[in-house]
Amino acid sequence: QHSSLLLPPRKMPYDYRNKVMLAPMVRVGTLPSRLLALQYGADLVYSEEIIDHRMIRAKRTYNPHLHSVDFVQPDGTVIFRTCPAERGKLVFQMGTADPARAVAVARLVMHDVLAVDVNMGCPKSYSTDGGMGAALLKHPDKIHAILTALVAAVGEHVHVTCKIRVLATVEETVALAKMIESTGVSALAVHCRLTHERPREPGHPDMLKPIVDALSIPVIANGGSLDIVSHDDIEAFRQRTGCASVMVARAAQNNPSVFRPEPLVPRLEMARQLLRTGIEWDNPSGNTKFCINTLANDGSWVTPHGFTQCESHAAMCPFLGIDPAEVVAIQERRRAAAVLERERDG
Ligand code: FNR
Repeated sequence: QHSSLLLPPRKMPYDYRNKVMLAPMVRVGTLPSRLLALQYGADLVYSEEIIDHRMIRAKRTYNPHLHSVDFVQPDGTVIFRTCPAERGKLVFQMGTADPARAVAVARLVMHDVLAVDVNMGCPKSYSTDGGMGAALLKHPDKIHAILTALVAAVGEHVHVTCKIRVLATVEETVALAKMIESTGVSALAVHCRLTHERPREPGHPDMLKPIVDALSIPVIANGGSLDIVSHDDIEAFRQRTGCASVMVARAAQNNPSVFRPEPLVPRLEMARQLLRTGIEWDNPSGNTKFCINTLANDGSWVTPHGFTQCESHAAMCPFLGIDPAEVVAIQERRRAAAVLERERDG
């Protein structure tokens, strides 16, 4: 086991105020999207949610070719990869309904991430059937048990946070938020929609201020993407909700450059950057393709016929005007950089 990527053994202090964050997003929140979000100005990036059962089976390994830390399943699949550019800026999000499993997952990742977060907002049946995600909102006792177990077991090493949705009334939501605060979490993210509300519905940003007023820990506002087209809209959402910080999902999925004050990077250029970053970090090509496909269509590039059939990074290159020979060049550059980074990190 290579220790060079490890965070300090004690929890790094972190000020959760005035931050913009890449929200957790299944399939979208993999390493290339997170790196681009950071490059364009996100302060903190969340991993996609990974279910505790899957993560518990993974083994932490150091990858010398990339200078990354990989969490690898018994069949060799890398389910979570992180690299030095994310150090101190990465939150691992888990899906769990069980304190012991949550603690086991947190122990596995705690030296590689700033915080561990529990998803308490996912309305999809694959989460709620297992008692995870938004199903937890109906069981405050379970929320309490999971968070207190995490804070007791790993709270000295990482921040513990969670992400909820609003409940039917402000009073119920405030009561839940106060209970969550009492467990010792560092911050609370709130998606301002009810569990049954669809992403296209406007949500209830005005329900967030009373939560902010009732808590002393920072509250992170989420659910504003319908009104977030550019960087300035993120701050407008923060001010409207009175929250300490903002977490952005769909607007960042549409274009990771939403985190920068300058105009958005055109889709074609963003697609090229995702592809090059995917190649550099040996991301599964199907995932890179998925992330490119979900970039918002701004007219600068329409996914050409045949792109969806691509089965490798090299096959995607010509569609984006990239010479396929660049694939090897990028891989060689990463290997050379990894050697230098290994020496630097000791
Ligand atoms: C999500 N969301 C989500 N939430 C979460 O806690 N864990 C997750 O893994 C995911 N996965 C996910 C995937 C995709 C493709 C989308 C669009 C959303 C919900 C997300 O984090 C956020 O709460 C909502 O999208 C609302 O925020 P925005 O989009 O209005 O900024």
